[in-house]
Amino acid sequence: MREYPVMDPSEGLTLFYPTVPKTAIDEVAATLATRWIGQGPRVERFEQQFKAKYLIDHSPLAVGSGTDALHLAYLLAGLQADDEVLVPVFTCTATNIPLLYIGAKVNFVDIDPQTMNISIADLKRKINDRTRAIVTVDYGGICCDYDEINSLALKYNIPVIQDAAHSLGSRYDGKIVGSFSDFVIFSFQAIKTLTTGDGGMLAIRNKTLLPRAKKLRWFGIDRESKQGGIWENDIVDVGYKYQMTDIAAAMGLGGLEKVDSNISHRKAIFAKYQENLKNFSGVKVIAPVSEKALDFCPWLLTVLVEGDRVGLMDKLREQKIESAQVHFRNDRYSIFGQRRKDLPVMDELEHRYLVLPSHPRVTLEQVDKVCSVVKSGW
Ligand SMILES: Cc1ncc(COP(=O)(O)O)c(C=O)c1O
Repeated sequence: MREYPVMDPSEGLTLFYPTVPKTAIDEVAATLATRWIGQGPRVERFEQQFKAKYLIDHSPLAVGSGTDALHLAYLLAGLQADDEVLVPVFTCTATNIPLLYIGAKVNFVDIDPQTMNISIADLKRKINDRTRAIVTVDYGGICCDYDEINSLALKYNIPVIQDAAHSLGSRYDGKIVGSFSDFVIFSFQAIKTLTTGDGGMLAIRNKTLLPRAKKLRWFGIDRESKQGGIWENDIVDVGYKYQMTDIAAAMGLGGLEKVDSNISHRKAIFAKYQENLKNFSGVKVIAPVSEKALDFCPWLLTVLVEGDRVGLMDKLREQKIESAQVHFRNDRYSIFGQRRKDLPVMDELEHRYLVLPSHPRVTLEQVDKVCSVVKSGW
């Protein structure tokens, strides 16, 4: 396998760059001068402001990472050892690894050739009476086909856990991401649309689960009664140390103030790539197909390459432009057992997809440059 060392921003156009507005820096500085730097009042304020913007009726739980949120979602969905769960094969390993913490059985579902999201046709083939949950990922920010997914979940009476690590600010059928699945998780890891350095949010539809969720976030202890004066709590449910800190929440609060302009820029970058590449047959931009998913916030700009992907990567690198795969099919990792043989679309696309720079520091002129390098062939 060819090696492409991570590029320094002083050398050229990097694939990712964190978006940290001044409002976030100021809020962190103010937090550092207070009593609360661990989990304190800013975490709750961030939860409420995030909820008002994205979750609507769902309950928020701020945590230390998107992975923490996924683990808690799986526990709150009642998943146990040996339960069968239908999961996307093409995603960050963080989606599926927490299922292994529990000992659940992952059943990988193939991808849709147009969006690289979970394939509805394969989901329908694989769902059965032993399926206990469906996990989805909105790859690159494009929503999956939730009408189909929700009707399957309803038919089998199982929950949908939506990994929205990529899709903050996207909508499905007019509804904002965060407001329509049983469990939705967000990631605020360094390079995400909204960052807290590391952090995550779990959105829970069923409000009655919130008290247990809060306990699971902190060792299994009822933190509110502890802070209310009852220090000696019994612990009946094994919990974790998954809370968000006030330093991270401060970044989140400051970031929220600017997130809409950040999202607008991401949309403009995506539109520019699409416009530039629309008549070039050498690559196809991964973009929404369904009308219901058209209003989306792009997090990744992925193209499917005709021919030699490595040749294109080399050509871009010569021009000091970073590109990479970012995510890989999860069944290639030994922890998930062996490579599956029932994923024909993944088999076909795994050598063709490539992610190009699209973070908010990328200018429209730089998009023109990347596209002219792409269009010059490889
Ligand atoms: C699809 C997806 N799910 C989950 C995660 C995990 O989030 P975190 O890094 O915040 O744990 C990531 C990336 O980091 C991701 O890309």
